[in-house]
Amino acid sequence: MKFTLNGTERTIEAAGDMPLLWAIRDIVGLTGTKFGCGAALCGACTVHVDGAPVRSCQTSLADVEGKSVTTIEGVGGEVGTAVVAAWRKLDVVQCGYCQSGQIMSAIGLLSENRKPSDADIDAAMDGNVCRCATYQRIRAAIHDAASNLA
Ligand code: FES
Ligand code: FES
Repeated sequence: MKFTLNGTERTIEAAGDMPLLWAIRDIVGLTGTKFGCGAALCGACTVHVDGAPVRSCQTSLADVEGKSVTTIEGVGGEVGTAVVAAWRKLDVVQCGYCQSGQIMSAIGLLSENRKPSDADIDAAMDGNVCRCATYQRIRAAIHDAASNLA
């Protein structure tokens, strides 16, 4: 299977039905993307495919053939840089386990909507669960990143 991963073309010798998450973590060795539920319920495994957030536990290698995948390790650009800076500034992270997925979803939101309301944020972030309940700081950080993108 051939696809672009964080800007580099990759050929992965694996079955097309292998979950993208397995390939990212176990074959490529990028462990910033986390396994949580394995069932599209927690968002810990969120990456971008062609710029849009997807759950990599429920996305197969065949689904990304010829496409561009970005993981937390490849975050950059105007929106990605603003989101990471806001996360640091507001010290969003507690245990950290969910946070790469949270950041990928937040970048997806701000790439589409530079001035999200609280309701927009809640809707976009709804599928990203945080056991440490950092939801208030996540929302504040998204607003902070948005203000820096204005
Ligand atoms: S591990 Fe993919 S959504 Fe939970
Ligand atoms: S920071 Fe611990 S699960 Fe979210």
